[in-house]
Amino acid sequence: MAIQWFPGHMHLTRQAIAERIEDIDVVIELLDARLPGSSANPLLAQLTRRKPALKILNKQDLADTQRTREWLAHYNAQPATRAIALDANQAAAARRLIQACRELAPSRVGMARPMRVLICGIPNVGKSTLINTLVGKRAARTGDEAGITRIEQRIVLEDDFYLWDTPGVLWPRIIVAQSGYHLAASGAIGRNAFDEHEVALELLAVLLRAYPVSLAQRYQIEIDGLNEEAVLAAIARRRGAVAARGQLNLHKASEALIHDFRCGGIGRITLETPQEFALWLEQGKVLDANRQARKEQLVQERMISLPRKRSVPRRPSGP
Ligand code: G4P
Repeated sequence: MAIQWFPGHMHLTRQAIAERIEDIDVVIELLDARLPGSSANPLLAQLTRRKPALKILNKQDLADTQRTREWLAHYNAQPATRAIALDANQAAAARRLIQACRELAPSRVGMARPMRVLICGIPNVGKSTLINTLVGKRAARTGDEAGITRIEQRIVLEDDFYLWDTPGVLWPRIIVAQSGYHLAASGAIGRNAFDEHEVALELLAVLLRAYPVSLAQRYQIEIDGLNEEAVLAAIARRRGAVAARGQLNLHKASEALIHDFRCGGIGRITLETPQEFALWLEQGKVLDANRQARKEQLVQERMISLPRKRSVPRRPSGP
Protein backbone atom coordinates (compact mmCIF):
# COMPACT_ATOMS: atom_id res chain seq x y z
CA MET A 1 0.00 0.00 0.00
CA ALA A 2 1.34 3.41 -0.94
CA ILE A 3 0.94 4.89 2.53
CA GLN A 4 3.65 5.31 5.10
CA TRP A 5 2.22 4.72 8.50
CA PHE A 6 3.51 7.17 11.12
CA PRO A 7 1.58 6.43 14.27
CA GLY A 8 3.02 9.55 15.94
CA HIS A 9 3.27 9.69 19.69
CA MET A 10 1.14 6.60 20.30
CA HIS A 11 3.52 5.35 22.94
CA LEU A 12 3.37 8.46 25.11
CA THR A 13 -0.36 8.84 24.59
CA ARG A 14 -0.99 5.22 25.50
CA GLN A 15 0.97 5.72 28.71
CA ALA A 16 -0.91 8.94 29.52
CA ILE A 17 -4.27 7.22 29.00
CA ALA A 18 -3.24 4.20 31.07
CA GLU A 19 -2.21 6.46 33.97
CA ARG A 20 -5.35 8.60 33.84
CA ILE A 21 -8.03 6.02 33.04
CA GLU A 22 -8.67 4.87 36.60
CA ASP A 23 -10.16 8.29 37.45
CA ILE A 24 -12.17 8.70 34.25
CA ASP A 25 -15.97 8.32 34.03
CA VAL A 26 -16.55 8.59 30.28
CA VAL A 27 -14.22 8.23 27.29
CA ILE A 28 -15.10 10.35 24.28
CA GLU A 29 -13.78 9.18 20.94
CA LEU A 30 -14.01 11.80 18.23
CA LEU A 31 -14.55 10.11 14.86
CA ASP A 32 -14.68 11.50 11.36
CA ALA A 33 -18.30 11.07 10.22
CA ARG A 34 -17.06 10.45 6.65
CA LEU A 35 -15.05 7.40 7.80
CA PRO A 36 -16.32 6.34 11.22
CA GLY A 37 -14.84 2.83 11.09
CA SER A 38 -11.45 3.83 9.75
CA SER A 39 -11.06 6.76 12.15
CA ALA A 40 -11.76 4.61 15.23
CA ASN A 41 -8.71 3.54 17.18
CA PRO A 42 -8.83 -0.30 17.40
CA LEU A 43 -6.75 -0.20 20.60
CA LEU A 44 -8.96 2.22 22.48
CA ALA A 45 -11.36 -0.29 24.06
CA GLN A 46 -8.39 -2.22 25.41
CA LEU A 47 -6.69 0.98 26.64
CA THR A 48 -9.76 2.43 28.31
CA ARG A 49 -10.84 -0.81 29.97
CA ARG A 50 -14.34 -0.55 28.53
CA LYS A 51 -15.38 2.59 30.40
CA PRO A 52 -18.68 4.16 29.22
CA ALA A 53 -18.02 5.52 25.75
CA LEU A 54 -19.32 8.48 23.80
CA LYS A 55 -18.66 8.29 20.06
CA ILE A 56 -18.87 11.69 18.40
CA LEU A 57 -19.19 11.65 14.63
CA ASN A 58 -17.66 15.01 13.80
CA LYS A 59 -17.77 16.85 10.45
CA GLN A 60 -21.29 15.54 9.96
CA ASP A 61 -21.90 18.56 7.70
CA LEU A 62 -19.60 16.84 5.15
CA ALA A 63 -21.01 13.32 5.59
CA ASP A 64 -23.91 11.44 3.98
CA THR A 65 -26.92 11.90 6.29
CA GLN A 66 -28.36 8.42 5.73
CA ARG A 67 -25.00 6.71 6.40
CA THR A 68 -24.50 8.86 9.50
CA ARG A 69 -27.84 7.54 10.79
CA GLU A 70 -26.63 3.96 10.15
CA TRP A 71 -23.38 4.56 12.04
CA LEU A 72 -25.20 6.18 14.97
CA ALA A 73 -27.54 3.18 15.19
CA HIS A 74 -24.53 0.86 15.00
CA TYR A 75 -22.76 2.53 17.93
CA ASN A 76 -25.91 3.16 19.98
CA ALA A 77 -26.59 -0.59 19.89
CA GLN A 78 -23.29 -1.27 21.72
CA PRO A 79 -23.31 -1.64 25.52
CA ALA A 80 -22.49 1.45 27.62
CA THR A 81 -22.09 3.48 24.44
CA ARG A 82 -23.81 6.60 23.08
CA ALA A 83 -23.20 8.20 19.73
CA ILE A 84 -24.00 11.68 18.47
CA ALA A 85 -23.16 13.50 15.25
CA LEU A 86 -22.17 17.15 15.14
CA ASP A 87 -20.12 19.93 13.55
CA ALA A 88 -17.39 21.00 15.93
CA ASN A 89 -17.90 24.62 14.88
CA GLN A 90 -21.50 24.75 16.14
CA ALA A 91 -21.65 25.75 19.81
CA ALA A 92 -25.14 24.41 20.54
CA ALA A 93 -24.35 21.06 18.91
CA ALA A 94 -20.98 20.78 20.66
CA ARG A 95 -22.59 21.23 24.05
CA ARG A 96 -24.74 18.14 23.42
CA LEU A 97 -21.71 16.14 24.42
CA ILE A 98 -22.10 17.37 28.01
CA GLN A 99 -25.66 16.01 28.21
CA ALA A 100 -24.60 12.72 26.57
CA CYS A 101 -21.82 12.24 29.16
CA ARG A 102 -24.25 13.00 31.98
CA GLU A 103 -26.54 10.23 30.68
CA LEU A 104 -23.64 7.78 30.53
CA ALA A 105 -22.47 8.49 34.09
CA PRO A 106 -25.52 9.88 35.95
CA SER A 107 -23.97 9.48 39.40
CA ARG A 108 -21.17 11.95 38.59
CA VAL A 109 -22.70 15.28 39.48
CA GLY A 110 -21.83 18.17 41.82
CA MET A 111 -18.46 19.41 43.07
CA ALA A 112 -17.98 16.39 45.34
CA ARG A 113 -18.35 13.94 42.42
CA PRO A 114 -17.40 15.89 39.30
CA MET A 115 -17.66 14.34 35.85
CA ARG A 116 -14.22 13.35 34.54
CA VAL A 117 -14.02 12.82 30.79
CA LEU A 118 -11.14 11.87 28.50
CA ILE A 119 -11.22 12.84 24.83
CA CYS A 120 -9.28 10.97 22.13
CA GLY A 121 -9.17 11.10 18.35
CA ILE A 122 -6.95 10.82 15.30
CA PRO A 123 -5.07 13.86 13.93
CA ASN A 124 -7.18 16.43 12.06
CA VAL A 125 -10.50 14.98 13.24
CA GLY A 126 -11.50 18.36 14.74
CA LYS A 127 -10.61 17.92 18.42
CA SER A 128 -9.07 21.37 18.83
CA THR A 129 -11.99 22.96 17.00
CA LEU A 130 -14.48 21.19 19.26
CA ILE A 131 -12.64 22.20 22.44
CA ASN A 132 -12.33 25.80 21.25
CA THR A 133 -16.06 25.86 20.49
CA LEU A 134 -16.88 24.40 23.90
CA VAL A 135 -14.78 26.84 25.90
CA GLY A 136 -15.49 29.78 23.63
CA LYS A 137 -11.85 30.70 23.15
CA ARG A 138 -8.66 29.26 21.72
CA ALA A 139 -7.85 26.68 24.38
CA ALA A 140 -6.21 24.33 21.89
CA ARG A 141 -4.48 25.30 18.67
CA THR A 142 -6.28 24.10 15.54
CA GLY A 143 -4.38 22.59 12.65
CA ASP A 144 -1.74 21.13 14.99
CA GLU A 145 0.55 18.38 13.83
CA ALA A 146 0.06 15.16 15.80
CA GLY A 147 2.09 15.30 18.96
CA ILE A 148 2.38 19.07 19.30
CA THR A 149 -0.52 19.17 21.75
CA ARG A 150 0.66 18.65 25.31
CA ILE A 151 0.37 15.00 26.32
CA GLU A 152 -2.44 15.86 28.68
CA GLN A 153 -4.45 18.99 29.20
CA ARG A 154 -7.35 19.54 31.58
CA ILE A 155 -10.23 21.77 30.50
CA VAL A 156 -13.05 22.84 32.81
CA LEU A 157 -16.32 22.83 30.84
CA GLU A 158 -18.61 23.37 33.82
CA ASP A 159 -17.86 23.65 37.55
CA ASP A 160 -18.33 19.90 37.91
CA PHE A 161 -17.31 18.78 34.42
CA TYR A 162 -13.63 18.25 33.57
CA LEU A 163 -12.31 17.22 30.17
CA TRP A 164 -8.84 15.77 29.65
CA ASP A 165 -7.47 16.22 26.15
CA THR A 166 -4.99 13.79 24.55
CA PRO A 167 -2.88 14.27 21.39
CA GLY A 168 -4.25 13.09 18.04
CA VAL A 169 -2.51 9.82 17.18
CA LEU A 170 -2.87 6.78 14.94
CA TRP A 171 -2.25 3.20 16.06
CA PRO A 172 0.92 1.15 15.49
CA ARG A 173 -0.29 -1.21 12.76
CA ILE A 174 -2.97 -0.88 10.09
CA ILE A 175 -5.14 -3.96 9.63
CA VAL A 176 -7.88 -2.75 7.26
CA ALA A 177 -6.20 -1.79 3.97
CA GLN A 178 -9.08 0.51 2.95
CA SER A 179 -8.63 2.48 6.19
CA GLY A 180 -5.20 3.71 5.11
CA TYR A 181 -6.66 5.19 1.93
CA HIS A 182 -9.67 6.67 3.69
CA LEU A 183 -7.53 8.25 6.40
CA ALA A 184 -5.23 9.72 3.75
CA ALA A 185 -8.20 11.10 1.79
CA SER A 186 -9.60 12.71 4.94
CA GLY A 187 -6.37 14.55 5.84
CA ALA A 188 -5.45 12.46 8.89
CA ILE A 189 -2.14 11.38 7.31
CA GLY A 190 0.50 13.97 6.35
CA ARG A 191 0.60 14.75 2.62
CA ASN A 192 4.16 13.50 2.16
CA ALA A 193 3.26 10.09 3.55
CA PHE A 194 0.99 8.83 0.77
CA ASP A 195 0.71 8.59 -2.99
CA GLU A 196 -2.09 10.94 -4.13
CA HIS A 197 -2.68 8.94 -7.33
CA GLU A 198 -3.39 5.70 -5.45
CA VAL A 199 -5.56 7.43 -2.87
CA ALA A 200 -7.53 9.17 -5.65
CA LEU A 201 -8.14 5.82 -7.39
CA GLU A 202 -9.44 4.31 -4.15
CA LEU A 203 -11.62 7.36 -3.57
CA LEU A 204 -12.99 7.02 -7.10
CA ALA A 205 -13.77 3.35 -6.51
CA VAL A 206 -16.04 4.40 -3.60
CA LEU A 207 -17.56 7.31 -5.51
CA LEU A 208 -18.33 5.17 -8.57
CA ARG A 209 -19.95 2.56 -6.35
CA ALA A 210 -21.95 4.81 -4.03
CA TYR A 211 -22.10 8.38 -5.40
CA PRO A 212 -21.90 8.20 -9.24
CA VAL A 213 -24.37 11.04 -9.81
CA SER A 214 -22.56 13.49 -7.51
CA LEU A 215 -19.25 12.58 -9.17
CA ALA A 216 -20.56 13.10 -12.70
CA GLN A 217 -22.22 16.38 -11.74
CA ARG A 218 -19.20 17.79 -9.95
CA TYR A 219 -16.88 17.36 -12.93
CA GLN A 220 -19.51 17.47 -15.69
CA ILE A 221 -18.28 14.18 -17.13
CA GLU A 222 -19.88 11.03 -18.53
CA ILE A 223 -18.89 8.13 -16.30
CA ASP A 224 -21.01 5.27 -17.64
CA GLY A 225 -18.84 2.21 -18.20
CA LEU A 226 -15.64 3.98 -17.08
CA ASN A 227 -13.24 2.55 -14.51
CA GLU A 228 -11.35 4.63 -11.90
CA GLU A 229 -8.32 5.30 -14.15
CA ALA A 230 -10.56 6.49 -16.98
CA VAL A 231 -12.59 8.75 -14.67
CA LEU A 232 -9.38 10.28 -13.28
CA ALA A 233 -8.23 10.94 -16.84
CA ALA A 234 -11.61 12.56 -17.61
CA ILE A 235 -11.24 14.79 -14.53
CA ALA A 236 -7.72 15.76 -15.65
CA ARG A 237 -9.04 16.71 -19.10
CA ARG A 238 -11.97 18.64 -17.66
CA ARG A 239 -9.66 20.52 -15.25
CA GLY A 240 -7.10 21.25 -17.97
CA ALA A 241 -4.49 19.25 -16.06
CA VAL A 242 -2.28 18.63 -19.08
CA ALA A 243 1.49 18.39 -18.86
CA ALA A 244 4.14 18.83 -21.56
CA ARG A 245 3.49 17.16 -24.94
CA GLY A 246 -0.24 16.91 -24.15
CA GLN A 247 0.19 14.24 -21.47
CA LEU A 248 -2.46 14.25 -18.76
CA ASN A 249 -1.28 15.38 -15.34
CA LEU A 250 -2.92 12.70 -13.21
CA HIS A 251 -1.12 13.87 -10.09
CA LYS A 252 -2.78 17.28 -10.34
CA ALA A 253 -6.17 15.67 -11.04
CA SER A 254 -5.70 13.42 -7.98
CA GLU A 255 -4.91 16.43 -5.78
CA ALA A 256 -8.01 18.24 -7.07
CA LEU A 257 -10.23 15.24 -6.35
CA ILE A 258 -8.86 14.78 -2.81
CA HIS A 259 -9.24 18.51 -2.14
CA ASP A 260 -12.84 18.46 -3.39
CA PHE A 261 -13.65 15.47 -1.19
CA ARG A 262 -12.13 17.15 1.88
CA CYS A 263 -14.07 20.39 1.54
CA GLY A 264 -17.38 18.79 0.54
CA GLY A 265 -17.12 19.91 -3.09
CA ILE A 266 -18.44 16.58 -4.40
CA GLY A 267 -21.33 16.62 -1.95
CA ARG A 268 -21.92 14.88 1.36
CA ILE A 269 -19.88 11.68 1.16
CA THR A 270 -19.30 8.84 3.64
CA LEU A 271 -16.71 6.36 2.48
CA GLU A 272 -17.89 3.32 4.43
CA THR A 273 -21.00 1.73 5.94
CA PRO A 274 -20.98 -0.30 9.19
CA GLN A 275 -21.56 -3.53 7.21
CA GLU A 276 -18.74 -2.83 4.74
CA PHE A 277 -16.34 -1.95 7.51
CA ALA A 278 -17.19 -5.08 9.51
CA LEU A 279 -16.44 -7.20 6.45
CA TRP A 280 -13.13 -5.43 5.73
CA LEU A 281 -12.14 -5.84 9.37
CA GLU A 282 -12.80 -9.59 9.26
CA GLN A 283 -10.77 -9.94 6.04
CA GLY A 284 -8.03 -7.68 7.42
CA LYS A 285 -7.72 -9.75 10.59
CA VAL A 286 -7.27 -12.96 8.56
CA LEU A 287 -4.62 -11.34 6.34
CA ASP A 288 -2.88 -9.84 9.35
CA ALA A 289 -2.82 -13.18 11.19
CA ASN A 290 -1.33 -14.85 8.06
CA ARG A 291 1.27 -12.07 7.78
CA GLN A 292 2.23 -12.44 11.43
CA ALA A 293 2.47 -16.25 11.08
CA ARG A 294 4.72 -15.90 7.99
CA LYS A 295 6.92 -13.43 9.86
CA GLU A 296 7.29 -15.78 12.79
CA GLN A 297 8.03 -18.68 10.45
CA LEU A 298 10.76 -16.64 8.73
CA VAL A 299 12.32 -15.82 12.07
CA GLN A 300 12.25 -19.51 13.03
CA GLU A 301 13.82 -20.55 9.71
CA ARG A 302 16.53 -17.93 10.02
CA MET A 303 17.31 -19.10 13.53
CA ILE A 304 17.65 -22.69 12.31
CA SER A 305 19.85 -21.81 9.32
CA LEU A 306 22.15 -19.43 11.23
CA PRO A 307 25.46 -21.14 12.14
CA ARG A 308 25.66 -21.59 15.87
CA LYS A 309 28.18 -19.34 17.56
CA ARG A 310 31.29 -21.31 18.51
CA SER A 311 32.10 -20.83 22.11
CA VAL A 312 35.55 -19.27 22.50
CA PRO A 313 37.64 -21.08 25.11
CA ARG A 314 38.47 -18.70 27.91
CA ARG A 315 42.06 -17.95 28.46
CA PRO A 316 43.17 -19.25 31.79
CA SER A 317 43.51 -16.35 34.17
CA GLY A 318 46.62 -15.65 36.13
CA PRO A 319 50.28 -15.55 35.01
P1 G4P B 1 -7.42 18.25 15.40
O1 G4P B 1 -7.29 19.17 16.57
O2 G4P B 1 -8.23 17.05 15.71
O3 G4P B 1 -6.12 17.90 14.76
O4 G4P B 1 -8.29 19.00 14.27
P2 G4P B 1 -8.61 20.56 14.09
O5 G4P B 1 -9.53 21.02 15.15
O6 G4P B 1 -7.34 21.30 13.89
O7 G4P B 1 -9.46 20.53 12.74
C1 G4P B 1 -8.89 20.09 11.52
C2 G4P B 1 -9.65 20.76 10.38
O8 G4P B 1 -11.00 20.29 10.36
C3 G4P B 1 -9.75 22.28 10.49
O9 G4P B 1 -9.73 22.80 9.18
C4 G4P B 1 -11.12 22.50 11.08
O10 G4P B 1 -11.67 23.75 10.75
C5 G4P B 1 -11.90 21.39 10.37
N1 G4P B 1 -13.10 20.98 11.10
C6 G4P B 1 -13.17 20.60 12.40
N2 G4P B 1 -14.42 20.26 12.72
C7 G4P B 1 -15.16 20.41 11.61
C8 G4P B 1 -16.55 20.17 11.30
O11 G4P B 1 -17.36 19.74 12.12
N3 G4P B 1 -16.93 20.41 10.01
C9 G4P B 1 -16.06 20.85 9.05
N4 G4P B 1 -16.52 21.05 7.82
N5 G4P B 1 -14.76 21.07 9.32
C10 G4P B 1 -14.32 20.86 10.57
P3 G4P B 1 -8.57 23.74 8.67
O12 G4P B 1 -8.22 24.72 9.73
O13 G4P B 1 -8.99 24.23 7.35
O14 G4P B 1 -7.36 22.81 8.58
P4 G4P B 1 -6.97 21.89 7.38
O15 G4P B 1 -7.95 20.75 7.32
O16 G4P B 1 -7.03 22.75 6.16
O17 G4P B 1 -5.59 21.46 7.74
